[in-house]
Amino acid sequence: MYFTEKKCLQLMNDQINNPFQNNELHTFIELIKYGQIDEQYINYNIFYKVFNSFCMHNKFSSQFSKDFLNFVNYTILYTTESQLFENYLVNILSNKTSILDVGCGACMFWLNNPILIENSKKITCIDLNQQILKYPKYLLNQHSKISVDYTDIYDLDIKLYDTVLFIEVIMQIPEPHKMLQHIWNTNPNCTIIFAHNIYNHNLSKIFTPFRIHLFPYLPVLNLAYGKALSYQTTLEIIEKAQGQISQFIHVDNTRKIFVATSKKSTIHSIN
Ligand SMILES: C[S@@+](CC[C@H](N)C(=O)[O-])C[C@H]1O[C@@H](n2cnc3c(N)ncnc32)[C@H](O)[C@@H]1O
Repeated sequence: MYFTEKKCLQLMNDQINNPFQNNELHTFIELIKYGQIDEQYINYNIFYKVFNSFCMHNKFSSQFSKDFLNFVNYTILYTTESQLFENYLVNILSNKTSILDVGCGACMFWLNNPILIENSKKITCIDLNQQILKYPKYLLNQHSKISVDYTDIYDLDIKLYDTVLFIEVIMQIPEPHKMLQHIWNTNPNCTIIFAHNIYNHNLSKIFTPFRIHLFPYLPVLNLAYGKALSYQTTLEIIEKAQGQISQFIHVDNTRKIFVATSKKSTIHSIN
């Protein structure tokens, strides 16, 4: 497990940029390290998780800071949303050396897989939500190869990265093909990896208005706003940016990984 006893103590003593208040760090460590969160909150059914996350907000809101509760909820929901992608992503990323994680959120993927950080040259995690970023910034600050920044992708030099990662993010970006075009125009050999839940095409049309208009205003669900993408709409985004699929992984019925390269790429291997 990533959070050793020694590391926890070291973190507790380190006051620099420590975003945790009072006993918040202890609570987080108990959660992650010992899985000691109340049984009800780790129920594997997504609907129970969302419901219980709301209950947790109400129950603990006087005890812990709002940001911390959002962060903890994020980590609880993450296990359902993204954990299943992890082993596949670790495999795909093991031969990549410089990775840009766009919309990294709480960086749970990196916190869960520090070995990938050690084996890489450079990892940059960016997000436009400052609140959520302060926790991974602190928890990963002893790793010299990874940086967690509040930065827009358009302010970065894409040539520095061989891989750009979007885990459950692309649906939140307006006109996402323009972002892909920007990446491939600057660095045609860059591999772009998308890992997200996909929906039935008709269902995604019905579901999208709720995700766009209602979810942003609901605590917990505001993490999952944006278009509900289908397999077809994901492909359309990639094609519109002059990209092609070089690898497709069917993780389960809804979770898929798309590995895409630019049609202008000069590297012709399967990534
Ligand atoms: C559902 S969360 C996924 C976070 C993380 N990748 C994960 O799997 O846990 C989506 C994240 O994308 C971020 N995001 C949305 N639009 C973005 C943009 N244009 N640039 C960077 N981050 C963005 C949001 O702030 C949010 O943290």
